[in-house]
Amino acid sequence: MIRIQKRKPIIDQHDKNYLYAGKFGGNFVPETLKKPIEDLTKLFNKLRKDKKFIKERDYYFKNYVGTPTSFIKLYNTSHQLGGAQIYAKVVSEANGGAHKIYNAIVHALICKHAGKKYIIGDTGAGYAGKMLSMAAKKFGLKCKIFMGTKDMARQKPNCDAIRANGAEIIPVDSGSKTLVDAVSECMRYWVSNCDTTHMCVGSTVGPNIFVKICAWSTAQISRELIVQLKEEFGKIPKKLKLINCVGGGSSAIGFWNSFMDYNKKQVEFIGVEAGGPKSSKLHAAPLTNKSKIGILHGAAQYVVQDKEGQISETASISAGLDYPGVSPLHCFLKDAKRARYTAVSDEEALAAYQLIAKNEKIRPSLEPSHAFAVAIKLAPKLSEDTIIVVNSCGDAKKDELILTKRLGKDHD
Ligand SMILES: Cc1ncc(COP(=O)(O)O)c(C=O)c1O
Repeated sequence: MIRIQKRKPIIDQHDKNYLYAGKFGGNFVPETLKKPIEDLTKLFNKLRKDKKFIKERDYYFKNYVGTPTSFIKLYNTSHQLGGAQIYAKVVSEANGGAHKIYNAIVHALICKHAGKKYIIGDTGAGYAGKMLSMAAKKFGLKCKIFMGTKDMARQKPNCDAIRANGAEIIPVDSGSKTLVDAVSECMRYWVSNCDTTHMCVGSTVGPNIFVKICAWSTAQISRELIVQLKEEFGKIPKKLKLINCVGGGSSAIGFWNSFMDYNKKQVEFIGVEAGGPKSSKLHAAPLTNKSKIGILHGAAQYVVQDKEGQISETASISAGLDYPGVSPLHCFLKDAKRARYTAVSDEEALAAYQLIAKNEKIRPSLEPSHAFAVAIKLAPKLSEDTIIVVNSCGDAKKDELILTKRLGKDHD
């Protein structure tokens, strides 16, 4: 039985080879990247304990990102569905419209501390790229964003924002032309430019240090939520379900991070992967579809792959979830049975988007719409004293093209 150690940050629960539970994660990188990764690991380990650095991080989180983001009750939806009470943590209020800003700010600060002037990153839904370009602009760094051409076409508003911030988009036209190829291309570029350039991985994936930095950055979400739950209920509710979509897994880890030591009977973590189109066998759900462990982007994890171990094509309406791998941290939480994972189809996510946008003041992007779909399914089956919180980690502005195509012009 795999155990999660109490009172030890989840990001530090790996062995000397940086493997979680001895099998997920690690540093499977080319020889040339060993030294830059070692240097980054040393620098981050120093900075994360440095009170001045934490003060700097918190300053920008408060004054640039605009934390804390709000925690609201979805009265209309809770009333309509009956059963559990549904709340949302509206992380999409953060500057730029999604949780990717936390990781971007921390990476830009690390880049400055490392004395580097160039920063590069990958993006799928475009938010990680948009946020990195914002952070680069803020701190005077030159920025390149790697993005699959399929994602560039479906997430145009975020591409426009990246360019408006002065960053260059490097189109990636290989493979599936999505996030998986963008990350590969970004890493390839870093191999040849790591002396002058800092790399930001846009989710809790990649070699161990990138998983750590990202999870450490998004943990801000759960720190705020603990305070907000105590304000609302006087204590952490006895039956609490925290539902989050999972692509690479950065928003979910951030949403759950500070709740790790609570008993799972009290605080349940539910991760929602992309089940893809209903009529297709393609999906982006390695944790829910009995995928085997493989190596992707420098780390061992559950990966959607064929019998020969080749990475399979994935499909999802949501560019942010359309990734064949998943964070080693989620593989660890799944095997330790601390979190439960499920998947919903594109159609279910669209229906959830419509219900929430019609009922409430928020318009969740297609990624969190996957999480709302599970909340909508579960709530009527649960008692009124159960509190469901969904991380509404992105805004639907970027999905306008897809929503109009799928639901018509007057879609809300
Ligand atoms: C709004 C939003 N939510 C979720 C995700 C999925 O990524 P992660 O699982 O790392 O949070 C993305 C990725 O781009 C995103 O833009």
